[in-house]
Amino acid sequence: MPRLTAKDLTIEEKLKLVIGGDHWGTNTLDGKVRYVKMVDGPIGRRLVVSEDKQGRETILPSIAYPCAQALSHAWSEDFAYELGKAIANDMIDVNADILLGPAVNIKRTPLCGRNFEYYSEDPLLSGNLAAAYIKGAQDQHIGTSLKHFCANNIEYARHYCSSNLDERTLREIYLKQFEIAIKESNPWTLMCSYNKVNGTWMSEHTELYKFLREEFKYDGTVVSDWNSVHDAVRTMNSGLDLIMPFKDIDYKRLKEGYEAGEISDDALDSAANNVLNLIYKCEDASKLRKRTMSIKSRKNLAYKLAQNGIVLLKNNNVLPLSNERLVVTGAPVLRYKAGNGSSKVTLKEPAMTLDVALQNANFDCIYKETTRYVPNGQGMMCGTDVTCREELLTRDAVVIAVGNENEFESGDRETIKLCRAEEDAIRHLSGLGKKVIVVLYAGAPVDMSSWIGCVDAVVFASFGGQYQNEAVVDVLTGKFNPCGHLTESFPTCLEDVPAEQAYRDVENFDYDEGLLVGYRYYTTSNYPVLYPFGYGLSYSRFAYSNMDVKVQNDMVKVSFTITNTSDVDGIDIPQIYVGPLSCEPDRPIRELKGYARVAVKKNSSKKVTVDIPMDRLQYFSINTNKWEPCKGKLTFMLGKNSRDIIIEKDIVLA
Ligand code: BGC
Repeated sequence: MPRLTAKDLTIEEKLKLVIGGDHWGTNTLDGKVRYVKMVDGPIGRRLVVSEDKQGRETILPSIAYPCAQALSHAWSEDFAYELGKAIANDMIDVNADILLGPAVNIKRTPLCGRNFEYYSEDPLLSGNLAAAYIKGAQDQHIGTSLKHFCANNIEYARHYCSSNLDERTLREIYLKQFEIAIKESNPWTLMCSYNKVNGTWMSEHTELYKFLREEFKYDGTVVSDWNSVHDAVRTMNSGLDLIMPFKDIDYKRLKEGYEAGEISDDALDSAANNVLNLIYKCEDASKLRKRTMSIKSRKNLAYKLAQNGIVLLKNNNVLPLSNERLVVTGAPVLRYKAGNGSSKVTLKEPAMTLDVALQNANFDCIYKETTRYVPNGQGMMCGTDVTCREELLTRDAVVIAVGNENEFESGDRETIKLCRAEEDAIRHLSGLGKKVIVVLYAGAPVDMSSWIGCVDAVVFASFGGQYQNEAVVDVLTGKFNPCGHLTESFPTCLEDVPAEQAYRDVENFDYDEGLLVGYRYYTTSNYPVLYPFGYGLSYSRFAYSNMDVKVQNDMVKVSFTITNTSDVDGIDIPQIYVGPLSCEPDRPIRELKGYARVAVKKNSSKKVTVDIPMDRLQYFSINTNKWEPCKGKLTFMLGKNSRDIIIEKDIVLA
């Protein structure tokens, strides 16, 4: 069949094409064009197979990979690529076309209910991981949807609020990761967010769509987030291409608007052409699709990513375990822990519980209830067994599993503390004179101030997907040497978070902290944190030496030596921070500009070179209102994390 463009279609056909054909895909114009089937991600495939009258969905089970936060802890584009590839294979299994992910919003505040779906508080890392994930999926001929464009950093008021921010902040922090992912991987679609930016709904933000097309040269299809459209006519005129999902009211408004002359033919044709392009892209792609990973290799990947996503936060020489007699306790021992919402994957088979995973690793391990999950949303409760002192005293170590129940889409956390019962249980159990190891299941930072001093070790499991407990046990036992590093700051308490000091009501969120988000703020103001951005322990020890910084053409080459001074093979994630990029006001003193993931054998050294393209050192000037190259003296810092800088070198840029 010859390929159609907008000029081959009737007005009615064009109007039908620019709005979904149903809840999850495009209109086929009575068989004239192919259906494009979209399925939620980004943590795994979430295919809704049916919905009852009460809106209860039936989801086809799939592999639950670690959440985006866990993936990001590995600081590995290779892993992000593999994950995109694996989920694309899951999509091919059900003849789907577009995976609705990755999600790249910046973690401005740890309260945001969807932070587990996002990568980082840093745009470079977020952009690089997203670009690799997109490539991984699209190389398998499955399209992606880069979301949520943009400045959607809180959930509870996402349908009402305006994120108000200046241009420098918008470009450097909240658009940069979109720019990187678009320029490097060209996602087939891009999804707008629900919120307003500077007073205009993102589903009708002409200015930002123009910017997207002209500055980022984006040539894919812009899709609305589901039900984010307030006025279908304004949306069409703004440059958005596809309104999702189909709603009668939006279609009527489009039709009436067009008849009343409110929608220009140019706008309608451009959107219809962009939808047709997507349809044909999917048609071509569908002929090339074939499974490239067996189910087993996808599951192996889920397991490997779960191991690499764990961050060891504290270890007073109690880990790895040897042959201690253990008691495990806490509600998450028995429950699969994950964030909730449109990214929640339904498991095929139940995930292994922590006690069983420990027993499988040949530990003498019993389970005792001290906190209990209450499924009505009230959180945890102290159980009756908190006083089972005698039995606990016969054990060598207590493993306490705790975590967040309050991470989900469309709502935010009210606190970053654990619930009272869990905090009480940790404090109570640490009074028994046994080794105390806390395993924390969460997709966002936790305020540990009331208990961190009483425990010997903290293993941050993140939401590790269906193999999270096997992976946790591998870290506890040393079968896997932990190597995850945080990609967001863990503040001491919520009050320390810069975004929490900024003005906000239900309708207006002022991004007063500007560029000083996360570690950019804590390092610049020398403010203490519980665990800094970039932090993570290992069972190995690493030392850095011989740092050198050279400019070669358009590249700054930072080289150094890593020595593993321990008796254990390990993986390190050295980070390069640079700053300040200019002396303009309110700039961070250092910003992440490069990193590496390096395996170093015990008692040996490796030479590493990190390439930093010159254009990564540009800054958006508030004086000239454009990107400017960095000039003059610039400090390159080689660090173990954003606070622990080991060697610094200055260079002068002409
Ligand atoms: C979410 C998107 C998701 C879409 C479809 C929206 O509520 O914000 O991330 O892809 O629903 O489920």
